[in-house]
Amino acid sequence: MTDTGPLKAELIAAIAATETLEQLEAVRLNALGKKGLISTQLKALGGLAPDERRQAGQALNVVKEEIGVALAERQAVLKRAELADKLASETIDVSLPARATTNGRTHPLSRTIEEISAIFSDMGFSIAEGPDIETDFYNFTALNIPPEHPARQEHDTFYLNPDKTGTRPVLRTHTSPVQIRTMLNTPPPIRIIVPGRTYRSDHDATHSPMFHQCEGLVIGEGIHMGHLKGCLIDFCRAFFGVKDLPVRFRPSFFPFTEPSAEVDIGCRRVDGGLEIGAGDDWLEILGSGMVNPKVLENCGLNSDEVQGFAFGMGVERLAMLKYGIPDLRTFYESDLRWLKHYGFMPVDVPGLHTGLGTGGA
Ligand code: DAH
Repeated sequence: MTDTGPLKAELIAAIAATETLEQLEAVRLNALGKKGLISTQLKALGGLAPDERRQAGQALNVVKEEIGVALAERQAVLKRAELADKLASETIDVSLPARATTNGRTHPLSRTIEEISAIFSDMGFSIAEGPDIETDFYNFTALNIPPEHPARQEHDTFYLNPDKTGTRPVLRTHTSPVQIRTMLNTPPPIRIIVPGRTYRSDHDATHSPMFHQCEGLVIGEGIHMGHLKGCLIDFCRAFFGVKDLPVRFRPSFFPFTEPSAEVDIGCRRVDGGLEIGAGDDWLEILGSGMVNPKVLENCGLNSDEVQGFAFGMGVERLAMLKYGIPDLRTFYESDLRWLKHYGFMPVDVPGLHTGLGTGGA
């Protein structure tokens, strides 16, 4: 009968002598691997007489099992030791300074839209949106700009290919079409602002083919010019952060408002720079007016029952004035150095959570 004692003793000793999981794996392969000691002996059984083969086979299988158990036990011990070592050596030094993070910045245009929205939200306005691709009706006709009206030429409109009906959709030239969509869909009272992208075929230091506007619309019974003035004076003062900012309303013309007024704020021009809030100069910042009764009627509203005012402002222009950004084109260049300089750490804008809802078209 084969004596498996020495083989077992040798392997048990080898297992006990291992100090790492790699060494243990080497011992396992040497014992149980395809060409390992036990496997070789098992293969050699074929050459024995049947009786001897059975006995030797049983003995070898017992050893194989015992070695398996010994390997598993040693593995558990070594794993525990390895973990203890790791815990001891990889301590966390909580006193180390934090690693600098490279958070993104809020783009000045997004920030400006957030600020405008926060101010109007505090006055009870909600935000309305509309499509960038508009029909001639919403962008022009319903706003009292009929086909032959000179204002159409002033808008440098981008026209798209004709649709199935043969009419050419346009990239909206202003956010005013959302006034129409809202009045057609929502019964008064209405109090909305419409921040969004607008498009005109124009490109230089102060014009971009894509730019942003924020429209405003208030419709209700008995709304008058006093409401328009109070609302826009408050807005200008809050936006520029100047409590007694001089605000002037200058007669103007827009087809969709009657009467119309351009809004100017007081400023001083010094050495090519601009100081907002003082001085004897004026700076135009937005257009406004009482909604033209024709526009109300185009939207199915009775101009004897409801009245309203509207306004529109260029977001880039407001951002350039407030944050001293000299060139409009830089807004869209995605230059990281520029964004680092003019961008904002993302923080909550005060007032943004005070009831700003969505509404309108
Ligand atoms: N839609 C005008 C523009 O793009 C801006 C504007 C002026 C909008 C007066 C208004 C308004 O609602 O009342 O130039």
